[in-house]
Amino acid sequence: MCGIVGYTGSGSATNVLVSGLKRLEYRGYDSAGVALELADGSTPGCVLDVVRSTGKVAGLEEELEAHHSNATCGIGHTRWATHGRPSVKNAHPHTSCDGRIAVVHNGIIENFAELRDELKSRGHQFKSETDTEVFAHLIEEAYDRHRAEPDALMAAVREACTFVVGAYGLAVVCADEPGTIAVARKDSPIVVGCGPDGSYVASDVIALIDATRDVVVLEDGQFACLTPQGIEYTDEQGRSIRPQVTHIDWDIDMAEKGGYPDFMLKEIFEQPRVVRDTLVGRLAPTGELDIDELGLTYEQLDVIDRVYVIACGTSYHAGLIAKNLIEGWARIPCEVEAASEFRYRNPIITPSTLVVAVSQSGETADTLAAIRDARIKGAKVFGITNVVGSPVARESDGVIYTKANKEIAVASTKSFIGQVVSLTLLALLLGQVKGKLTTAQVRMLFHELGDTAEQIQWVLDTQKEAVHEAALACKDARSALFVGRGMGAAISNEGALKLKEISYLHAEAYAAGEMKHGPIALIDPGFPVIAVATKSPTYDKTVSNLKECEARGARIIAVATEGDEDIRKVADHVIYVPAVRDALSAITATVPLQLLAREVAILRGCDVDQPRNLAKSVTVE
Ligand code: F6R
Repeated sequence: MCGIVGYTGSGSATNVLVSGLKRLEYRGYDSAGVALELADGSTPGCVLDVVRSTGKVAGLEEELEAHHSNATCGIGHTRWATHGRPSVKNAHPHTSCDGRIAVVHNGIIENFAELRDELKSRGHQFKSETDTEVFAHLIEEAYDRHRAEPDALMAAVREACTFVVGAYGLAVVCADEPGTIAVARKDSPIVVGCGPDGSYVASDVIALIDATRDVVVLEDGQFACLTPQGIEYTDEQGRSIRPQVTHIDWDIDMAEKGGYPDFMLKEIFEQPRVVRDTLVGRLAPTGELDIDELGLTYEQLDVIDRVYVIACGTSYHAGLIAKNLIEGWARIPCEVEAASEFRYRNPIITPSTLVVAVSQSGETADTLAAIRDARIKGAKVFGITNVVGSPVARESDGVIYTKANKEIAVASTKSFIGQVVSLTLLALLLGQVKGKLTTAQVRMLFHELGDTAEQIQWVLDTQKEAVHEAALACKDARSALFVGRGMGAAISNEGALKLKEISYLHAEAYAAGEMKHGPIALIDPGFPVIAVATKSPTYDKTVSNLKECEARGARIIAVATEGDEDIRKVADHVIYVPAVRDALSAITATVPLQLLAREVAILRGCDVDQPRNLAKSVTVE
């Protein structure tokens, strides 16, 4: 996730910015940069010294040493690419045409293409491929209109924000107002605070915890004007406000985790945001899906008669869900294969085959090898990854980015949700192109997909106790079975993987209907059977299968639809999810399984973020 820092005061801005950026480093980034205000006797105000580099913050620090800057005001940023590949020119801060305004920004500007075209038509020249740069140009124009006013920079930032649709955490400096940092927030976190040596802004409390523990967490639509003397707060109309001050008593370790006890839980709680961010800008006003980075024309998509989803581990499970959607909505045969198998057999590939490669890291060796193989055999390859510019992105014909931001816990959670949302978009698109879904159906399904953000939030807010009770029932087991039918069967695979990888409790997933063909022999009194039994066309069948397990003494934990009281007749423990269309149920029903796996792991004393024997990126065969 991108990170923002800013400082104005009496100390060294370089030192504050570099140490703040280093504090944000653990979240991952591909480039970093700062804009420092340098006194310049020849001009009123100052000049902005913008230094940016790719790679580690230490590299930026080395470059800055050569500048010997005595600046006392500046802004900095670590970037996790979303628009535009990782490079120096795409690194923040971004500047206006005259270089007198510099901005750092977190979030996504949904209408950036439109704004950029308008700005270009008015003579603005763009230097990067980012959405952020439009902010620099919008503020530049607005600043000219407000120049004579006493708080011109704040007024310009407020005005620029009115043109932007999307999310932003924003910090801005202007060479004509040395010592001032203008800050704005909408749907992207911003924290400000005053220390003994000046005023600080950051996107995460971790970056300013050394300077102050009394901070203001800005709310949407609030603005802050930082000067060495203090901070003034205003609303969208420029009226003065007095926001609440929060005292932070977390230690550094807790602060890195945003107050959560571990990264896995933090990342599970980020999932509503991942759904929203992955969908931003995807539905054009005409009701057509907009996946402009696809790299494949509608004509190329229309000839597709077979889809392979290739991936490993959790990403493979996202593929199992996609199979149901692609076959259901687009009526195209879809096979899901472990990349490590796909590459060593001789799959049937023709020029009308679409291979969809799913990889959080974008660098899994088997997935990459399978992509290369498929392309040699003539397939079109489409990547779904979380890392902009990663090998999977570079080697595919087109790509959808999952917008999960950096995932730190080894076990994938939020990336999986981002993958399922992206694959759902792809299935909708194929359904639309193939004429199997009308524009109205696509629009309706798209909105229901967006609603899953709130539905996940509901699970997170209300099911904690139920998850804990269910985890107590599993913690001393030797083994567990996950069962379901249809979508439920696909989700069960992910539930079983999550449980075994972080709690070291053996777990298997079975299609519920397969139980009586063998696995039911495992069941003895107290054996945990975790069932995805949400309302679906096969709900009654799943319940019958559970009764068979119950009759043999199994302890049944059901993930069921809110309001389903009947399920309690067969299940010992129930974790509810909101009612949702079966096709979209994977997104909500996976969340209780993630929470359950984590809770069991904690009860068994395991390190949930770094399970033994596993690595986050598997770059070897
Ligand atoms: C499990 C997990 C792994 C990865 C797998 C593929 O929680 O994270 O199973 O899903 O190693 O990794 P990517 O998606 O990076 O290709």
